[in-house]
Amino acid sequence: MKVSPSILTCDFARGAEEMQFVKDSGADMVHLDVMDGVFVPNISFGPAVIGSLRPHSDMFFDVHLMMQQPRRMLPAFAKAGADLLNIHLECDDPIDETLADIRALGKKAAITLKPATPAEAAFPYLEQVDMVLVMTVEPGFGGQSFMEDMLPKIAALRQEIDRRGLAVDIQVDGGINVDTARLTAEAGATIAVMGSAVFNAAEPQALVAAVQAL
Ligand code: DX5
Ligand code: ZN
Repeated sequence: MKVSPSILTCDFARGAEEMQFVKDSGADMVHLDVMDGVFVPNISFGPAVIGSLRPHSDMFFDVHLMMQQPRRMLPAFAKAGADLLNIHLECDDPIDETLADIRALGKKAAITLKPATPAEAAFPYLEQVDMVLVMTVEPGFGGQSFMEDMLPKIAALRQEIDRRGLAVDIQVDGGINVDTARLTAEAGATIAVMGSAVFNAAEPQALVAAVQAL
């Protein structure tokens, strides 16, 4: 699997060092969790913080937009240095048009499913995205427990993506450690987001390498 450490629980006063920590861990990309306080009951950061981190990292910025109305903010996130913009299927904006806007900005596009949203809800958009994120916790906070009942959803998405011959990644986010990552890899996931596991690891490089070997 590829590994995308979530910096949600990092120390933002030490942004440059945290970017270096992610780089040194050997991870493949950086996961940035944007929370608007409406779509989820938490507020994290927006384009200004992403823009201030950008000069301190040459890694791919994987931006997870937990926002009720992401569409109007897409140009700001693109300008701040996002490489991939990921919207929730449960947001208020029209999905087709919002994905087209992301493409028009020259960015990779993705959709996310909350735990209650079935795999089939993503099927109409599989040709328009680079990645589908299956949330394995309720979005809003780091450090929660992995929901094992999301595994059949991952498998259903993998089956449909492969049936259509598409090169769409499946990302998993929430409660991922080496054990839960293995379960998701077996179900067909290809990118593991890890927040607390990486940032609290005694040996972050060993953890990242173990997940990359799955
Ligand atoms: C939750 C976020 C996650 C979170 C993951 O809403 O989308 O990216 O930071 O944190 P852990 O890995 O600690 O569950
Ligand atoms: Zn996330």
